[in-house]
Amino acid sequence: MKASLEYSISPDEAVQPERLSTGVKGLDDMLGGGLPSKRCVLVCGGPGSGKTIFGIQFLCNGVTKYGETGLYITLDESPSKLSEDMAAFGWDLERLCKDNQLVIVDASPLRTIPADVKVGNFTIHKKDFSMLSLTHIIKNKAQEINAKRLVIDPITMFVLQYPEITERRNAIVNLFEGLADLGTTNLLTSELRVNVLEREIQPEEFLSDGVLVFHSFVDSGRVVKAIQIEKMRGISHDHELRPYKIVKHGIEVFARERIYK
Ligand SMILES: Nc1ncnc2c1ncn2[C@@H]1O[C@H](COP(=O)(O)OP(=O)(O)OP(=O)(O)O)[C@@H](O)[C@H]1O
Ligand SMILES: [Mg+2]
Repeated sequence: MKASLEYSISPDEAVQPERLSTGVKGLDDMLGGGLPSKRCVLVCGGPGSGKTIFGIQFLCNGVTKYGETGLYITLDESPSKLSEDMAAFGWDLERLCKDNQLVIVDASPLRTIPADVKVGNFTIHKKDFSMLSLTHIIKNKAQEINAKRLVIDPITMFVLQYPEITERRNAIVNLFEGLADLGTTNLLTSELRVNVLEREIQPEEFLSDGVLVFHSFVDSGRVVKAIQIEKMRGISHDHELRPYKIVKHGIEVFARERIYK
């Protein structure tokens, strides 16, 4: 009994993880201050749910409020189109890039690597090569600019390359370990293709440190958008579904409101 007491820590005295504000006040409230720093958080949502807007909001908040440099890896949208779309929210990505506060890397060519790659007697499969290249690009850029915040948008194509579950888990673990070495706080977006309330949970959700889900469903003929913190290791957080909107300054979360009264 005595021994177990010696090894116990009072929860009040335990060191709390450092937090990073997401730039979304209501979500920070749900998180009790913000995201735990230097972790990998998955942002899951359907088309148009606001994953990209949220990722950019997180990076712009880091730069403008805390002077933290950001790295954004785009796999779907071209940087020019992204800058154009985000200007509507008042985020001048081109200027942030010119001032070396933000770097946008277009990693979409990795989607179309034509064949397996031969290195001496070894063959690196196309999917492994693209994953290795992604990790390599991120590592180089993040170190070059001393990035504090990182967004990969989306990782879906990379994980879908691995239909076999063990391979998929290994690839994700390798990616997450690579990111952990960088000391950045990481958001990885993931496309949800089925109704979020009935979806199959993916291995990347188990492997990431946190999961935010952007839900969208119809209730009494009304489209309802709600955010849920599915998990966030190391911190206590709100577990409820809370409504959110995409408004002129980005994502807004109503942390005190409920979806079902
Ligand atoms: N200026 C704006 N003001 C308010 N809402 C906007 C504005 N621009 C876009 N939206 C909303 O945001 C949605 C797009 O958000 P976003 O691109 O972040 O979604 P996403 O989850 O990344 O989607 P995808 O999976 O297709 O990439 C649009 O469908 C629209 O509903
Ligand atoms: Mg998007």
